Amino acid sequence: MTVNTGNNRASAPSDIVVEADISAVVSEDLRSIVQRHLNQVPNSVELSAAEQETIRQQIKQLLREKNAVIVAHYYTDPLIQALAEETGGIVSDSLEMARFGNNHPADTLVVAGVKFMGETAKILTPDKQVIMPTLEATCSLDIGCPADDFSAFCDQHPDRTVVVYANTSAEVKARADWVVTSSIAVDVVEHLDACGEKILWAPDKYLGSYVQKQTGADMVLWDGSCIVHEEFKAQGIEQIKQVYQDAAVLVHPESPQSVIELADVVGSTSQLIAAAKQLPQRQMVVATDQGIFYKMQQAVPDKELIIAPTGGNGATCRSCANCPWMGMNGLNNLLSCLENETNRVEVDPAIAARALKSLQRMMSFKAGG
Ligand code: 13P
Ligand code: SF4
Repeated sequence: MTVNTGNNRASAPSDIVVEADISAVVSEDLRSIVQRHLNQVPNSVELSAAEQETIRQQIKQLLREKNAVIVAHYYTDPLIQALAEETGGIVSDSLEMARFGNNHPADTLVVAGVKFMGETAKILTPDKQVIMPTLEATCSLDIGCPADDFSAFCDQHPDRTVVVYANTSAEVKARADWVVTSSIAVDVVEHLDACGEKILWAPDKYLGSYVQKQTGADMVLWDGSCIVHEEFKAQGIEQIKQVYQDAAVLVHPESPQSVIELADVVGSTSQLIAAAKQLPQRQMVVATDQGIFYKMQQAVPDKELIIAPTGGNGATCRSCANCPWMGMNGLNNLLSCLENETNRVEVDPAIAARALKSLQRMMSFKAGG
């Protein structure tokens, strides 16, 4: 987590080099994929309170019978988050999800999140069964970084250490030297920079540019973005700050640079929740997916949480601070995958073996160590 003091740790070059040209991949194609997935979001099917309770009890029983545990992300439906907590599972950021699944003795991990989280769990614990409520839930960063194009990009920069964000496919991780999540990206790149290494970063250009500014490292960046965080705009934050003048601004580093510059705290989802607790302000403007409010409000019951405005509205708003893929996880499909042991995550063993090396570096990294 970074508290914005206005002083970066190192002086950064004025221009960030964003080299990869994937405009063809991330234009109309991506929009139509998002729309298709938005149309399938199962939670639009309203369940009555009684139906919810019946499903919850069925899931609880199956978790016990099958020695299974729920590993959920903060952006999933609060009903899933509550169930994970009540049954000894976890609700967390992507790094803690990976660690929890890796260390837990369950035979089956039910990963409620997006594809890369299920793949990471399977690569780290191949002997466990990893299932997901849906295998369709992906991520714009993963979609926007096809393995073949990425590999060609790496070939153009053989002198660089390849650092990829966890929000990537197993194939992309297999081509990388390091995997990082937003909670340790700055620390890992700072460490590599101190060792004299030049970095090739993918896929999130905003997170990459933030890391570059924080560390001063020599980085070339892939041109990807998160469709949810990209919609936060500096102008919207400035306007809402006029209304809530004493509010702290909490920003996930997948947001554009102009939004990050207005932040009091920049960090992963878990780090933003920790900051909400530690900061003295009574009001928080939060620039990340709205799913985080369930756990954040639990952490700070007396504080007022305000969602940062997104750039779009109506027809132009593709996410409105709600990840369409995280939203595909619901009670119904969670029950179904557990009952039938369907939606198993499988990763090609040769790819998994290579991805494991870069993931293990992430798992064993200790800041300052
Ligand atoms: P965190 O690791 O901060 O939870 O981020 C994962 C993610 O996909 C955010 O959009
Ligand atoms: Fe990917 Fe953005 Fe959704 Fe996170 S919020 S899973 S980065 S699309």
